[in-house]
Amino acid sequence: MRRIKIFDTTLRDGEQSPGCSMNLQEKLDVARQLQKLGVDIIEAGFAASSKGDRDAIAAIAREVKGVTVCSLARCVKSDIDAAAEALTGAERPRIHVFIATSDIHMKYKLKMTEEQVLSAVEECVSYAKTKCDDVQFSAEDATRSDRDFLCKVLSAAVKAGATTINVPDTVGYATPAEMTELIEYVGAHVDGIENVTIAAHCHNDLGLAVANSLSALSAGAGQVECTVNGIGERAGNAALEEIVMGIKVRGDAMKLECGVDTAQIYKSSRLVYGIIGYHAPKNKPIVGDNAFSHEAGIHQHGVLNDRRTYEIMKPEDVGINNDNMALGKHSGRHAFEKRLNELGYNPGKEQLDRYFEKFKELADRKKDITDRDLEAIASEHTRGTAQYSLDRFAVQAGNRSTPTCVIRLIKDGEKYEDVAIGDGPVDAAYKAVDKIIDPPAHELYDYAIHSISDGKDALGEVTVKLKTENGSITGRGLSTDIIEASILAYINAVNRLLERTEEQ
Ligand code: KIV
Ligand code: ZN
Repeated sequence: MRRIKIFDTTLRDGEQSPGCSMNLQEKLDVARQLQKLGVDIIEAGFAASSKGDRDAIAAIAREVKGVTVCSLARCVKSDIDAAAEALTGAERPRIHVFIATSDIHMKYKLKMTEEQVLSAVEECVSYAKTKCDDVQFSAEDATRSDRDFLCKVLSAAVKAGATTINVPDTVGYATPAEMTELIEYVGAHVDGIENVTIAAHCHNDLGLAVANSLSALSAGAGQVECTVNGIGERAGNAALEEIVMGIKVRGDAMKLECGVDTAQIYKSSRLVYGIIGYHAPKNKPIVGDNAFSHEAGIHQHGVLNDRRTYEIMKPEDVGINNDNMALGKHSGRHAFEKRLNELGYNPGKEQLDRYFEKFKELADRKKDITDRDLEAIASEHTRGTAQYSLDRFAVQAGNRSTPTCVIRLIKDGEKYEDVAIGDGPVDAAYKAVDKIIDPPAHELYDYAIHSISDGKDALGEVTVKLKTENGSITGRGLSTDIIEASILAYINAVNRLLERTEEQ
């Protein structure tokens, strides 16, 4: 078995995609979870891109040990300086320098000739090497680059000190057979390749990212780049959970292994989805609700006799706990804490107090509190600090009346009340909130409602996304009452918008 390295770029390539932005606290939570998951490298951000990225990289570098922490940098000295500075506290820092090598990128994006790109690589990789021992070089759009030129650039990067060279399929254009061939070609034509690690970084535009990544690994790559849930630009990056389970379940065919603790996969997936305010499609491999469920009678019959008839892996392998022992109104704090711990959450005392209060509120409205409800409660803390909180609201709505909402918010102990009419009760509530807070300019571009568990008394989760001039903001609200969940989600988003505006 060949041990390959897992390079996670959820916090860089994933986070930079629309609707996936995270605040510092959330990035730290994800990094801590990635460490538990056992990835080898965490790409924590792109230091030169913003202060937020620099701060997050620095915080992760200081706190998350036992794993390589990496920052992206363009082939520009000031980017490399920013990366090196942000990584100062890292136990194992890595600078990841990239530049495009395809004709189309060089001509229309970089406006550079081949010679200019080549000398930028020589200069910048050598410069990065003076700042950090571990330097990765990526040839952006490698799969559409001229092969001879690509190998020339990669050879120059190795000569200048790169210890990992990455072959990205930036636009998700390659096929698995082409990826195999390209990695073999690089392995045969890059000078000094035997002393460095070859990496693959595949995007999912044609739905081939995982297949291409596995082909690259089988062809000799020693590192694979991926994101939790496959989040990333456009159709996303290769999904970590699919690559890792592919290696685990079909290690016999691929002769590969990695250091990921697969029992942490489900929790990592839920954490990332919870933060970005999305849900796994039901049929998503590994982490979707239906990934392990069997509906057809003939399948159920087979599984009851022997699970292996229709299951190639067990839910427990990825940390899905189907025990689902429900808690209820009479469950005490001890049982609540015990169940949270069993689900992998270990809140501190203050956090536990808050969760328990929420649990009690929910138990008054809902008979059985399931593991899904508990996970929803326990993932709420990442949503940022609250300046305004909801005190009370009243809505009036009907098909023949004008929807109206009276709302009272609290900030620093003061109560603020206002009333508004709207196109519906949610719109009226949001207008009333706007009248009280007068938030910075934004556009509400996404509103989604999702039921956390089954049944008519299910906990509803509302996610709203606001577009602002500095990127998007996600707000989330939980309640058995969907109007309340909608209001909580909007207040949460507006609080985060205020927080971001103050930071800036
Ligand atoms: O897709 C890509 O080419 C990248 C590089 C910066 C590695 O994300
Ligand atoms: Zn990418």
